[in-house]
Amino acid sequence: MSTAITVKNISKTFHEDDGASTVALRNISLSITTGEFFVILGPSGSGKSTLLRIMSELETSNKGSVIWNDPLAARSLGEGRAFVFQQFALLPWLTVFENVSLGLLSMKLAKAEIAKRVTNRLRLLGLQKFAKHYPRELSGGMKQRVGFARALVINPKVLFLDEPFSELDTFTAEALRKELIALWEKEKFTVVMVTHNVDEAIELADRVTVLTTRPGTVEAIVPITLPRPRSMRSPEVFDLHDEITNLVKP
Ligand SMILES: Nc1ncnc2c1ncn2[C@@H]1O[C@H](COP(=O)(O)OP(=O)(O)OP(=O)(O)O)[C@@H](O)[C@H]1O
Ligand SMILES: [Mg+2]
Repeated sequence: MSTAITVKNISKTFHEDDGASTVALRNISLSITTGEFFVILGPSGSGKSTLLRIMSELETSNKGSVIWNDPLAARSLGEGRAFVFQQFALLPWLTVFENVSLGLLSMKLAKAEIAKRVTNRLRLLGLQKFAKHYPRELSGGMKQRVGFARALVINPKVLFLDEPFSELDTFTAEALRKELIALWEKEKFTVVMVTHNVDEAIELADRVTVLTTRPGTVEAIVPITLPRPRSMRSPEVFDLHDEITNLVKP
C-alpha cells in the first residue's frame, strides 16, 4: 500500500503580539496510507485543528515537514484535496448550487460540465431540491451536506474533515456518517478527520491517532479492524471504547 502523506517531526508554536507563546504541537510524525480513513482524536486544545491545517498546507509549521507522495493529491486545496469545516463555512449570499460550484471555479471547466458535476453531487447528498435555496433556509444537517458536496465536487484524492458532525444533532450526524462511509467505500479517496468523539472515531476509522493535551504529541495509534458497517453495540466496540478513552488524558 502506498503512502499518501508523510508528516515528519512537526512542531508548531504560536507567538502572540505581547510576547507570549503557545506550543501547540511537538514532534508529530505520522504516515497516512492512500485510501485509508485516518482519524485524529484528542481533547480540546490538543492541536488537532492545527495539525490538520498543517497537513493540508492551510498553515505552516515551525519545524518538520509534510510530504505529499501523490502528485495529483499534492495540488492545491480545491484541486487534489478538499476541506470540510465544523461551522460549514458556506457563503450566505450564494445559493446551494453556487456554493457547491465554488470548488470548481479554479478548474476552468465548461459551464455545462460544472452544472453536471454539481447536480450529480447534490443528488448524491440528497440536496437536489435545495439547489436554488440560500444557506439561511437550510437546517444544520442540510448545511453540512452542502459542505460535503462542495468538498466532494472536485473528486478529491484527500478529504480533510475538522469535526464535521459536531454541530449536528445525533440523528443527523449518524445519517451523514453512514453516507460518508458509503461514498468513501465507493470512491476510495483518503480521509483525514479530526474529532473528539470516541464512538465516532471507532465507527469510521481504519486507524485512530490519539493526541496528548497541549503541546499535542502522538500518545498512541490504534488500528480499528472491525468490518463495516460497524455495530456500535458489539463487545469489541465497548472494549475499543475503553481502550481509547483511557488513552485520552484531558
Ligand atoms: N491562530 C492561533 N493563534 C494563537 N494560538 C492558536 C491559534 N490557533 C490555535 N492556537 C492555540 O493552539 C492550541 C491548539 O489549538 P487547536 O485549535 O489546534 O486545538 P484543537 O485540538 O483543535 O481544539 P478544539 O477541540 O477545541 O477544536 C490552543 O491552545 C489554541 O489556543
Ligand atoms: Mg479544533
